[in-house]
Parts: sequence; C-alpha cells; structure tokens
Amino acid sequence: MTKFENIEVAVDAKIATITINRPKALNALNYETIEELGNALDEILNLENRPAGIILTGSGDKAFAAGADLKKFPELGFEGGKQLSKQGNEVFNKFENSPIPVIAAINGFALGGGLELAMACHLRIASFNAKMGQPEAKLGLTPGYAATQRLPRYIGKAQALYLLLTAEMIKAERALELGLVNEVVEADSLRERCVEILNTIGGLAPLAITEIIRCVNAYYDPKLDGYEEEVESFGKCMDSKDLQEGVSAFMEKRKANFTGE
Ligand code: CAA
Repeated sequence: MTKFENIEVAVDAKIATITINRPKALNALNYETIEELGNALDEILNLENRPAGIILTGSGDKAFAAGADLKKFPELGFEGGKQLSKQGNEVFNKFENSPIPVIAAINGFALGGGLELAMACHLRIASFNAKMGQPEAKLGLTPGYAATQRLPRYIGKAQALYLLLTAEMIKAERALELGLVNEVVEADSLRERCVEILNTIGGLAPLAITEIIRCVNAYYDPKLDGYEEEVESFGKCMDSKDLQEGVSAFMEKRKANFTGE
C-alpha cells in the first residue's frame, strides 16, 4: 500500500482500516485528504487478497472529521466551490458503491463533510462521545458532499430539514433515535464492535454481499429499476459457486467455506 500523507491505511487478512490523520485540524477534509481517501479505496479494492470490509475512522479521540477544511474556502469562488463539491461527491460515491462494506467508526465530531463521508459508508457505528451535525448554513453554505440528498434518505425529510436548517449538533444517542447511526457503543469498544460486524459479514457469501450493496444502492438511483437489478442479482447468485457451497453447507450442517465465485 502507498504511504499517504493525510491518512493511514492498515490491511490485515480480513479488514482494512483507513484512518484520517489530521488530528490537529480535527481531521478536517482538505482536497488532498479526499483525493487520498479515493486512492486508498482503489488500492484496497485491487488487492489480490481483498479484505471482507473496511473500517473508516479518524485519528485521536476527538473527531471522526470536523467537516471540509475551511481554510481555503474564502478564496474558492463559484468554479472552485463547484470543483470541490464535485471532487467530494465522486470520492464519496465510490465509497457508497464499494463492493465490500465500509463501516464509519464515528469516534467524535462528524460535522459537515465529516458526516457526509460517514453517510456515504454502508454502516455507521458511533461512540457515546460522538457529535454530529450539518453546520454549513452557519458558514453561509449549503452542504457540498450530498447531505441534502443522503440525510433525507436516512432520517426522512422533516428531520433532515431540521438538522440542515438549524445547524444543530446532535449527540450520538439522538443520531441513533433518528436512524442516522446503526449503534452507539463505548469509545474503547468502538473498533472491537466494528471488527465484530465485519467478521460476521466476512463469514457470509462475498458475491451476495456485493450484490446486496449494489441492489440497495439501485433503490436510490433514479436511472435504475431496483426491482430489475434485484432479479439480475438473484440470478447471478443462483449461478454461483457460493450458492452451491452455502446450500451444501446448510444441508450437511457445517460452516460454509465461500470463495466469492
Ligand atoms: N476546517 C479547518 N480547521 C478546522 C476545522 C475545519 N472544518 N474544524 C476544526 N478545525 C481546527 C481549528 O481551526 C483548530 O485549529 P487551531 O488549533 O490551529 O486553531 C483545531 O481544529 C481545533 O478546533 P477548535 O479549537 O475549534 O476545537 P473545539 O473543541 O473548540 O471545537 C468544533 C470543535 C466544534 C468541531 C469546532 O472546531 C468547529 O465548529 N469546527 C468547524 C465545524 C464545521 O463547521 N464543519 C463544516 C465545514 S463546511 C463543510 O463541511 C462543507 C461541506 O459540506 C463540504
């Protein structure tokens, strides 16, 4: 794996971990960091021994990511703003469409672009000290990395508008009530819980996992008919070695040994 400047990437046999590593700026996402996130994901997905999943987190105990890095914002202007937004969307969409699941381990502030990055992940596990929000309107901005699109999907239009229009920061327990995160755990067991979830997923059929992600994403893609996509995926899985192995293992009352074929 490449050694990156703003993120750290560690890969063991089954799990890759990407850690945003700018703790002094509360892991704020500048252009370079977002570019590195996209490159790291590509490298992980191209590994010969592709891991079962990815944990994405922030370094230190204060922040997952406190948003886009604000330092250069005053000089960006119309075209610069659009370019920044486009770059973030391209990379975050890549995470959403990853064929292996990505869990955001939200270990502190996830604000603005930080929460938008977490929302592009498939699952979100937060620690009790995590705080989330979309403070863009406070800065004279709309969100730029798709909070106006993903937040209503997760928590409904009314609650999404409330968070976007008030710029209010919410605690992890409230995020759980709203359905924005999957679980809230103690800070010192955050990684352990994410590993446990990925180990569960890693024991299932890789092809089915990839197709489930694809079909659920298709539900939200106006260019696709999600029902048709599911029919295709069902056929593809039915024709796989994983299906043969999964059903044989069930009949023989043993653990399946999937190959992802
Ligand atoms: N960009 C750049 N630097 C940031 C940052 C950001 N988004 N958030 C925090 N930092 C920096 C601070 O400037 C500070 O640096 P210095 O020590 O050099 O002054 C350091 O991180 C620590 O921050 P604070 O001293 O502010 O820490 P705090 O504990 O008092 O407050 C906080 C924490 C509430 C998260 C506060 O830092 C904050 O409000 N940050 C900004 C959050 C924000 O507005 N995010 C949205 C950005 S816009 C966006 O993301 C648009 C989009 O959709 C793409």
